[in-house]
Amino acid sequence: MARRKIAAGNWKMNGLAASIAELQKLTETTAACDVILCPPATLIQSFAAQADDSGVQIGGQDCHTATSGAHTGDVSAEMLRDAGATAVIVGHSERRQDHGETSDTVRAKAEAAWRAGLMAIICVGETEAERDQGKALDIVRLQVGGSLPAGATPANTVIAYEPVWAIGTGRVPSPEDIAEIHGDIRATLQTIIGDAASDLRVLYGGSVKPGNAAEIFAIENVDGGLVGGASLKAEDFSQIVRAAG
Ligand code: PGA
Repeated sequence: MARRKIAAGNWKMNGLAASIAELQKLTETTAACDVILCPPATLIQSFAAQADDSGVQIGGQDCHTATSGAHTGDVSAEMLRDAGATAVIVGHSERRQDHGETSDTVRAKAEAAWRAGLMAIICVGETEAERDQGKALDIVRLQVGGSLPAGATPANTVIAYEPVWAIGTGRVPSPEDIAEIHGDIRATLQTIIGDAASDLRVLYGGSVKPGNAAEIFAIENVDGGLVGGASLKAEDFSQIVRAAG
């Protein structure tokens, strides 16, 4: 079965109420891929209402592991779902670095996402030092193995490979390096979930731009992209969406 590509936008800590104009423009793009926009939590409800049945899905950028409780400042997967999200990013490297999230935490968050009926977009990726030491494949294997809960399916999970050194830097690995890691992730998934691995989508993220998206999305085992900076402007993100299909 051909894997339908995904163009996912991660707005990080950017966007105010007026930014809904970008979503309005984005919904005018006809897409032959899945489009998921992940604005900050404050905008999920209004964005989900605006996106409605346009085909653009709205996602969160993180969730707590618990359903509710004494966790000041946190947002649960159930709350994201209640606000209209259908997916949530977990384990982004900025969360792993800034908030000390381990693969154990990320796995629990992915389970929370499923519990709430959200698709989990699980992020993995090596640092520059790890790549320089020749450890990229090992690190990513460990992160995939450690972050994926039992019960992952192509419907409830997407993996996003994002080399930390490529995020927000304008630097992108060579097509050969992307192909190597994505092929290895597919093989790792095969050992964990068996033949279903061939249907589970693996995105590339890190400095995806309108100018390089088509080339990156054409690489074997790359099923679309997780896009940060270039997803903030509908004009740029629409070009990336079109490159995805
Ligand atoms: P970038 O971010 O596209 O700005 O490099 C990607 C990400 O962090 O998801």
